[in-house]
Amino acid sequence: MTETKNTDLLQRDFIDMLKATGSLKNKAIEQALQSTPRHLFVDRIHALGKRKGLIEVDPKCPTSSQLERIYSDEALLSHLNPPSSTSQPSLVVHMLDILSVRAGHRVFEIGAGTGWNAALLAHLSGPDGHVVTMDIQPDVTRRARRHLKRQGTKNVSVITGDASKGYAKKAPYDRLITTVTCPTLFPAWWEQLSPKGIIVLTLNDFPGESQCLMLKLQKRKDHLSGEVISLPGFMLFTGKHGMTFQWDQARKLVEKFAGKRPAAKERASWADILDGRDGWTLRRDLAFFAHLQGLTVIPMQNAFVITTHNRSTICIIHENHITAYGGNECFDKLKEAQTKWLRAGSPSRQDYCVEVWPSTVHQKNSWELRHKDVTFIFSLK
Ligand SMILES: C[S@@+](CC[C@H](N)C(=O)[O-])C[C@H]1O[C@@H](n2cnc3c(N)ncnc32)[C@H](O)[C@@H]1O
Repeated sequence: MTETKNTDLLQRDFIDMLKATGSLKNKAIEQALQSTPRHLFVDRIHALGKRKGLIEVDPKCPTSSQLERIYSDEALLSHLNPPSSTSQPSLVVHMLDILSVRAGHRVFEIGAGTGWNAALLAHLSGPDGHVVTMDIQPDVTRRARRHLKRQGTKNVSVITGDASKGYAKKAPYDRLITTVTCPTLFPAWWEQLSPKGIIVLTLNDFPGESQCLMLKLQKRKDHLSGEVISLPGFMLFTGKHGMTFQWDQARKLVEKFAGKRPAAKERASWADILDGRDGWTLRRDLAFFAHLQGLTVIPMQNAFVITTHNRSTICIIHENHITAYGGNECFDKLKEAQTKWLRAGSPSRQDYCVEVWPSTVHQKNSWELRHKDVTFIFSLK
């Protein structure tokens, strides 16, 4: 079998697999996938785990084992420290579906990676549309340009830089998509969006965490509104407003109370919730609700540290119980938040509608998360 036939077959199986698993439902995205072979965008793979190491790939002639990896539902790391990748195909397809790009749209992508998603966006926006994809790493953009040229994609500008300021030269954009976990919605993104434009924003739920809230937001007259769609994971935003993992901070806070007797200990209330969510997800959903009630949440690898602003008392949400140290202040607040959460039907992070305003606004039955330049308002769907 010739290599072309082999890649054609693998690509067809790959598309069938995405359809069978329910990720791919949209004909236009299927056509975009068909015309944008993923192997043309992969020139190296950083393998992790047992077979750790850098695999150089010749995109014109990948080996059959490399092709099998490229045409699987796997995110492939192209760079480490700082990292870059081509995201997991089912996630890419899901986000394209949510973004609903039409012919003639101008699109801004944050995080160029290998350029594969930019090529798919370019296919969807057609010859009258245009895609700007931006990445902070020069080696990433250099390679992405090469991949897009190899694929023959013309309507994409690959820009090197920190995307927190957007890219005013080609604005306004009908669609904006982030493919990295972002600390906030930067004012430039909002300003550079067309009226009624849509942003798919991957916003961190807790600082320095790769898991995020995927929001679909539409621009209204004076605010953006939408909802939490899903809870994917991405690498962390870097640059001037970059984030770092907070595990050390959590560990230091816990160490302050090492050897001290807990002020309180209570069995997990979430242990009795049997709706298909696993324990970790339930704990994260509770921690997010507590965060909306004004408590600070610092995730650890296997627990959540909850504290108040002055950090004099803490609670730890363990797998099966909550312990409090330093006094009852934080524990009482967490218990109050937990009671409200249970009364509200123990909402998941996907159960919220979201609005973004340029200033503080107070709305009934909702919770505010204030960032430096914008305020997020969460309410239950
Ligand atoms: C998951 S990868 C992007 C995947 C890409 N969309 C694709 O489909 O191949 C995330 C990228 O975001 C980039 N990034 C991180 N912080 C950034 C920032 N402040 N500005 C621009 N790009 C950034 C990283 O360098 C990395 O290449």
